[in-house]
Amino acid sequence: MSNMNAESSRPRLTRMPEWAALAEHRERFGTTRLRELFAADPARGTGYTLRVGDLYLDYSKQLVTDETLTLLRRLAEATGVAELRDAMFRGEKINTTERRAVLHTALRAPRDAVVEVDGENVVPGVHAVLDRMAAFSERVRSGAWTGHTGKPIRNVVNIGIGGSDLGPAMAYEALRSYTRRDLVFRFVSNVDGADLHEAVRDLDAEETLFVIASKTFTTIETITNATSARAWLLDELKAGQEAVARHFVALSTNAEKVQDFGIDTANMFEFWDWVGGRYSYDSAIGLSLMIAIGPDRFREMLDGFRLMDEHFRTAPPEENAPLLLGLLGVWYGAFFDAQSHAVLPYSHYLSKFTAYLQQLDMESNGKSVDRDGREVDWQTGPVVWGTPGTNGQHAYFQLIHQGTKTIPADFIGFAEPVGDLPPHLAAQHDLLMANFFAQTQALAFGKTADEVRAEGVPEELVPHKTFRGNHPTTTILARELTPSVLGQLVALYEHKVFVQGAVWNVDSFDQWGVELGKVLAKRIEPVLTQGVGGEGLDSSTAALAATYRVLRAG
Ligand code: F6P
Repeated sequence: MSNMNAESSRPRLTRMPEWAALAEHRERFGTTRLRELFAADPARGTGYTLRVGDLYLDYSKQLVTDETLTLLRRLAEATGVAELRDAMFRGEKINTTERRAVLHTALRAPRDAVVEVDGENVVPGVHAVLDRMAAFSERVRSGAWTGHTGKPIRNVVNIGIGGSDLGPAMAYEALRSYTRRDLVFRFVSNVDGADLHEAVRDLDAEETLFVIASKTFTTIETITNATSARAWLLDELKAGQEAVARHFVALSTNAEKVQDFGIDTANMFEFWDWVGGRYSYDSAIGLSLMIAIGPDRFREMLDGFRLMDEHFRTAPPEENAPLLLGLLGVWYGAFFDAQSHAVLPYSHYLSKFTAYLQQLDMESNGKSVDRDGREVDWQTGPVVWGTPGTNGQHAYFQLIHQGTKTIPADFIGFAEPVGDLPPHLAAQHDLLMANFFAQTQALAFGKTADEVRAEGVPEELVPHKTFRGNHPTTTILARELTPSVLGQLVALYEHKVFVQGAVWNVDSFDQWGVELGKVLAKRIEPVLTQGVGGEGLDSSTAALAATYRVLRAG
């Protein structure tokens, strides 16, 4: 794509002297091994660490030296990361393609904070909604909020997709041991009818509350599922539209569409266009989570977010954890050709954490033009992937250890097993964490051919049993996965993504890339349902649609 703007607001990243300095440093860094770096500096394992709030970050197993870090920080300075950060916190419209402020940080600001958008302080509105959410959550939790037939609510079904699903679904799993175990929570996102079917098939409609979560309230998957859920409810209750008010609430920025759907705006919890979908689960979008864990725990989680916000805003560059993680990703993408980044939580409760990060990171930084509309000639966002350890160890770790790719990884673990595990299961925790530490050790230091030989391994097997090592990892440790720690972790990644977007000079807060598929799906649907409107389809899609219709007709 050609540059539509005559003037660039900033020099091209790859033409900056700070970039050239890093490239030159990379040449000199060559094949330096972590074994050498650790041998040269006995204090590396304690020196290359940070403590932020409840998190302990060890980046000693990264392929960096003091010089690398200095040069990366110079790049951050030259690319104006701190200025953009401050502009974000001030409420400036840094989402330039949508002309919007980016203020998820205001969602966790204290009551007395002042954050202005277009001259208006948004913080009182944030707390007014949080208070309404808290009152509503308490009514549901206490049984005071009843369904159409007078029964208390026992089932909460969140219907949303993307940021209106992944955040609350992830946090619900993460904080499961803090949830009301006597209530049932389900999260429906897929427009595949099977998702809703499986979510409601064993529920009593009289005791079921649907939380319709959609920033725009126009997202086809969510509105389709919400419409089907309403039909299911009214059918089960043998009731008319009047039953909807006790069984449907909406989380949205769009009161008009909520009303059009038939939900009373008295049952709507609002948020604002300056909250991006993937940055929204600490807004009204977190209502299902708040019902699950209660308002006090939800506020503890917000405190955790705030702690990390303040750290990011005020900590000097040498101690700034999101800055560090962001810059490490820039380093590997640019100079090690790393295409992906693994996030590997050693916690069953974080089973959805990486899926959540996929949207946060890949929808934010999956861009190939810069803020000025010019094609980039540098790597932007990586493919983010991973599942909880130790399962990954028995699946794809082989490729990380001995494959041909550079895959930087974050290992996240806890010293204490979470929650209400019986003692014999809590006792398994040391084994879990022994695996965690063993993996980062093996990835960093590997096993040389000589070490393999010394074990008496036959010569023909030596290459197969040799581990190259030198695979970079960051370790993030905390004592326990509490609501506050979860908030700290999520905000750490939010700001890491921000740092990378700032360096890469992309707008991390739009997502135009998801639009084309939506438009084409609308065009293709009548071809599938009625066999009309296929004119102009490419020959592959036309043939697929025709085959689909034949198969569907049986
Ligand atoms: O996938 C595109 C997207 O707009 C996401 O950014 C968003 O989180 C999701 O769809 C859901 O949107 P909404 O909350 O408006 O239904």
